[in-house]
Amino acid sequence: MTYRSPRAAVLTGLGSWLPPDTVTNADLEATLDTNDAWIRSRTGIANRHRVSPGMSTSDLAVEAGLRALKSARSDQADAVVLATSTPDELCPATAPDVASRIGLPGVAAFDVSAVCAGFVYGLATAAGLIATGVAERVLLIGAEAFTTLVDPADRTTAAIFGDGAGAVVLRAGDPDEPGALISLVLGSDGGGSELLTVPAGGARRREPTEHHSRYLTMQGREIFRFAVRHMTSACRTAAEQTGWPLSDIDRLVAHQANARISNALGDALGVPPESRASNIEHVGNTASASIPLLLDEDNASGALTEGQRVLITAFGGGLAWGAATLVWPSLTSVA
Ligand code: UT7
Repeated sequence: MTYRSPRAAVLTGLGSWLPPDTVTNADLEATLDTNDAWIRSRTGIANRHRVSPGMSTSDLAVEAGLRALKSARSDQADAVVLATSTPDELCPATAPDVASRIGLPGVAAFDVSAVCAGFVYGLATAAGLIATGVAERVLLIGAEAFTTLVDPADRTTAAIFGDGAGAVVLRAGDPDEPGALISLVLGSDGGGSELLTVPAGGARRREPTEHHSRYLTMQGREIFRFAVRHMTSACRTAAEQTGWPLSDIDRLVAHQANARISNALGDALGVPPESRASNIEHVGNTASASIPLLLDEDNASGALTEGQRVLITAFGGGLAWGAATLVWPSLTSVA
């Protein structure tokens, strides 16, 4: 869809938070049949963060959300949208608790579930709330305690996933101003739902069985291929709808799933390595938190600067994917 509304959703603040506990490749070597060389060469990851016992998704979301509001220089929002695939409980949604703890009791608050594509789906949701006049300002948070889904004995998923949260504030504004979301592209393919799934614990199978784990199962190779194909296609569509030749992209901000996936995507789009945002080495794959974490880090370091043409894309379980474009605004990063 090309996103056309006189009331655009304009990025006006951002923030992020990582839990202090870390898991290095050396830590994984101590408990699993794996090694630093394999993990670095096959994924680009050296370190991930992990929630400590008793800490959960809402705790990460509150920290990131407060920083985003501070960055936006306002403690107000009319809606809190939480993109997560690790809600604190299966029911109810985690967003209302986050909204109350952030000091926004009474506002609209709900979760968006699209695994690693959750933040891009959340952008579209926030844009819709603003376009329809339901909200003037939306706090969109991507937060994951994804390591709680990972089987500690599974060397493949344990090497990839980490925890964290990132958040943005979007306000109603002019479609032509910096920070306005320009194009939003979303897609899904339920035919691939088995490729990344937590088989037990949901409504279909409440209890784990010998064949149905309560942990994440992933067919990495197939996911890899789909990820490159669908993110490439979504990026082409979003850039075309925006009227930007791919050679005009200043910053490609792709979901951090695997450095090899991001490189294959950048190569397919012809975006040079220096224009590809990356932080996977020290945070791993944080699912729906990955893009806002990366945006905040790039903004703080000066890699993202006012006026740059930014192309965002994500892919994950579902299968679900998406892409978005915007011209980067001037934003304050909050430590
Ligand atoms: O965020 C969206 C959701 N997830 C993704 O996007 C993940 C996408 N997929 C990937 O990132 C990659 O497929 C993986 C990193 C998961 C795996 O890399 P790969 O190059 O596709 O490896 P593979 O699955 O083809 O496995 C190659 C070998 C296997 O051993 P054999 O069967 O050849 O003996 C694996 O058992 O590597 C083995 N292996 C490992 N070895 C050491 C898998 N994980 C590890 C490990 N350490 N951690």
